[in-house]
Amino acid sequence: MARSGRVAVIGAGFYGSTTAQRLAEYDIFDTVVLTDIIEGKPEGLALDMNQSRPVEGFETRVVGQTTGQDGSGYDAIAGADIVIITAGLPRKPGMSRMDLIETNAGIVRQVSENVARHAPDTVVIVVSNPLDEMTALTQIATGFPRHRVLGQAGMLDTARFTNFVAEQLDVPVGSVRTLTLGSHGDTMVPVPSACTVDGKPLADVMDQAKIDELVDRTRNGGAEVVALLKSGSAYYAPSAAAARMARAVAQDSGDVLPVCAWVDGEYGISGVYLGVTAELGAAGVRKVVETDLTADELAALAEAAEAVRAKQADVQQL
Ligand code: APR
Repeated sequence: MARSGRVAVIGAGFYGSTTAQRLAEYDIFDTVVLTDIIEGKPEGLALDMNQSRPVEGFETRVVGQTTGQDGSGYDAIAGADIVIITAGLPRKPGMSRMDLIETNAGIVRQVSENVARHAPDTVVIVVSNPLDEMTALTQIATGFPRHRVLGQAGMLDTARFTNFVAEQLDVPVGSVRTLTLGSHGDTMVPVPSACTVDGKPLADVMDQAKIDELVDRTRNGGAEVVALLKSGSAYYAPSAAAARMARAVAQDSGDVLPVCAWVDGEYGISGVYLGVTAELGAAGVRKVVETDLTADELAALAEAAEAVRAKQADVQQL
């Protein structure tokens, strides 16, 4: 496929830099732009990534750009088809994602306003935490149509669940399908009824106690990594998920992926950003795709929606 388009990653920390490198290695974009407020950091990382091109064999160029609080440097994202917002603090051990809300809301709002000014037609993928709230805030601060703002969480949570199941059964990850919906937090809704191993229902190949244990581990998947790292949070699996979403948008693929998207009547829920499966294309979310859920799973999803709805209302004030 010919290379085309420009994708920008805001925030050149662990999450942003690994996302930029993955996007560049896809070798489908003309340019990957990486920005940060730390003077020289994005330029240095871009230089380093470009020097990996001959070895890895990709032609996409990475451009690093320091930005200022006043919006200086944001010219670099002009014309971007996709912007991924990773700016913001990560968790420390013992913190919940919600503990980051005030600090990260200030950062995400400032970034969003600059994105709206310099890349008014872009699709925005948000990854900063707390995810569901930062996605809602980005839509408000950019004023973009809701289908052009989505968040990354379900891809990651689902990938974690899949990995745990595959490790437990000692089978290839490719033979396992799992699904998580709801929030990227305490009200995450893993959906065992939609999970299969080699096409067989998960419940046929694993006892309920073990499924419950893996569901719980998935729900706490981010905290488990944070506790081990002691400073910073996960970024290899998160960046893989964000880059994969960007690829679906860039290629107008129609892939149905678990993402944080605006729901408007699906599952009987309206008016909130929530983890659901959605068909992605060049315009962002083409449509939310409903999955058959058990009564318990549907109730858990409705509960998640109400929990994030309350928090999303609060972010307007931040
Ligand atoms: N504009 C651009 N970059 C910013 C801004 C801003 N206004 N404010 C902070 N940053 C940058 C920081 O300078 C830092 O380089 O965001 C980067 C964050 O990087 P890390 O501290 O390494 O955090 P990371 O692991 O990348 O996580 C980023 O993703 O998963 C979430 O919870 C995590 O909210 C966090 C985000």
